[in-house]
Amino acid sequence: MASLTFKNVKKSFGKTEVVKGFDLEIKDGEFVVLLGGSGCGKSTTLRMVAGLESITSGQILIGDRCINDVEPIDRDLAMVFQSYALYPHMTVEENICFALKLAGMKKEEIQKKVNWAAEMLQLTPLLQRKPKQLSGGQRQRVAMGRAMVRTPQLFLFDEPLSNLDAKLRGLMRSEIKALHRKLGTTTLYVTHDQVEAMTLADRVVIMEKGVITQIGTPHEVFSKPANKFVGGFIGSPTMNMIPAKVQQKDSKLVLSMSDQELPLPAQFEGKAQAGQEVTVGIRPTDIHLREKQVAEGSALKAHCKLKNHELLGATVLLNAEMGGQAIVAEVPNEDAELHEDQELFIDTKSFHLFDKNSELSLI
Ligand SMILES: Nc1ncnc2c1ncn2[C@@H]1O[C@H](COP(=O)(O)OP(=O)(O)O)[C@@H](O)[C@H]1O
Ligand SMILES: [Mg+2]
Repeated sequence: MASLTFKNVKKSFGKTEVVKGFDLEIKDGEFVVLLGGSGCGKSTTLRMVAGLESITSGQILIGDRCINDVEPIDRDLAMVFQSYALYPHMTVEENICFALKLAGMKKEEIQKKVNWAAEMLQLTPLLQRKPKQLSGGQRQRVAMGRAMVRTPQLFLFDEPLSNLDAKLRGLMRSEIKALHRKLGTTTLYVTHDQVEAMTLADRVVIMEKGVITQIGTPHEVFSKPANKFVGGFIGSPTMNMIPAKVQQKDSKLVLSMSDQELPLPAQFEGKAQAGQEVTVGIRPTDIHLREKQVAEGSALKAHCKLKNHELLGATVLLNAEMGGQAIVAEVPNEDAELHEDQELFIDTKSFHLFDKNSELSLI
C-alpha cells in the first residue's frame, strides 16, 4: 500500500488545458472520491495515474516515487474502467485470473482468490461463460473481480457502477466499501454520482472544469460547501438558490430575499457587507411545516403557494412559490396536512450565503 500525491499536475490536449494545476495528497489506505460533472477532467486525471495518458507538467508520486516516467505495467495498480475491456475469447474465470497467472501465482491460490471474488460479485454460476454471453452489469462485475483478486498498492475506479441497475448499484457500493475496509488499499474512485461519493469516500474531491473546488469529508462538503457549485452539486433534492441583497437598515444589516426582509442571520455577521448581492442557499430539509420544528428565534415565516407535492415514501416533496420564487421543501410524510396557501418555516441558522459574483461561500 502507498500514498498517492499530485503536485501541480496539468494536462492539455493540443491547446486545450483540461486539468489545470491539480494538487492532492491521498494518504496510505485512504478512499478518495473524485466527483464532478461530465467532461470536467476526472477520467483524464485517473488515466494519468494509470499511465494511459501522459502528464503535460507536474508530478504524480506513489509513495515517494515519482511515476511520471514509469511504464504502466510497473506502477503496481489495478484499474476498473467505465468500459470493461474484457478479453472476448476468455471465459469469466480466465479473465479474472489472467493477471495472477501471468504473475506466476500457484494454481490453488488462484482458485481460492477467483472463488472468493466470484462469490462476492455473484458471478459463481457464470464463471465458464464468455463476455458476449453476459449482460452489461455482469461484465462490469467481471471487471471488478479482475481488479479485486490482485493486491496492488493502489485501486483506481472510473465510474464502475454506472451501467448497473439501482439495486445492484447499491449492493456493489457496500461491497466496495467492505472490500476497502478489509484490504485497506489506497483508492481513487471517480464518479459523477454524488450519492456514491458521499457513501464511499473518506474524503471527497470536487472538480469543476479541470480545477479542484473543494476537498473535504462527506460531512464537510455537505454542511460547508465552499461555493455555489458545490452547494448545488451535493445533496438531493438540490439546494434552493434564491437571489438576495444585503442592505443597511438603521444600524443593522438585513437580507432582502423575494418578498421577505429579515435580519442578517448571526453566522454572517462581519462576513457580509451592505449593498452586497448574494445567493441564499437553503436545503429542502431546512424548510418545515411547523414553527416548533425550528430552533427558537431562527424561524423565518414564509407565506407560500403550494403548486404540487410528491410523495417519496417517508418524506414528501413540496413544490411551492414564495413571493414569485420557486422553492422545494422536503418534510416528513406524517406532517403532510397541506393547503394551497401554506405557511412554511425556514431555518435561517441553516442558510448558506454565496457572493453573487465570485460564487464563494461567505463562511
Ligand atoms: N484524447 C483526448 N483528446 C482530446 N480531448 C480529450 C481527450 N480525452 C478527453 N478529452 C477532453 O477532455 C475533457 C475532460 O475529459 P474527461 O477527463 O474524460 O472528463 P470526465 O471523465 O470528467 O467526464 C473533455 O472536454 C474531453 O472532451
Ligand atoms: Mg469520465
